[in-house]
Amino acid sequence: MNFIDWTDDLSVGVVTFDEQHKKLISIINKLFDALKQGKANNILSEIFDELIDYTKFHFKSEEQLMTKYGYKDYEYHLKEHNYLTDKVVDLKEKYKEGDLMISIEVMEFLRNWLKNHILVTDRKYGKFFNDHGIN
Ligand SMILES: [Fe+2]
Ligand SMILES: [Fe+2]
Repeated sequence: MNFIDWTDDLSVGVVTFDEQHKKLISIINKLFDALKQGKANNILSEIFDELIDYTKFHFKSEEQLMTKYGYKDYEYHLKEHNYLTDKVVDLKEKYKEGDLMISIEVMEFLRNWLKNHILVTDRKYGKFFNDHGIN
């Protein structure tokens, strides 16, 4: 069973970003599986890094398209991206320094971290991009 399942309500109406969100979900699922299987710290660490790298890549992709088309809520969206990036980098740092165990609470945090942003903030750009011919 997946820790997070992709469901249609997560769609933002832009295929590229839906695909990127699916990839983010799959990395979080991979982290959860590794945790469940009692994988070593270095493995969990690697998956954490993959999550950070892909998050940065994904946020940049959204930001570039928003800038290109002059999305009105860009500043707010950027602020939220930066906040979310800081959060996940901070978790990783704490984990690396031995101040954090990856627990179910951490996994739930990551699930909410991603889902809330997609459902609330990302979904707002769907119609805007669709109106510019991007689906
Ligand atoms: Fe976003
Ligand atoms: Fe997103």
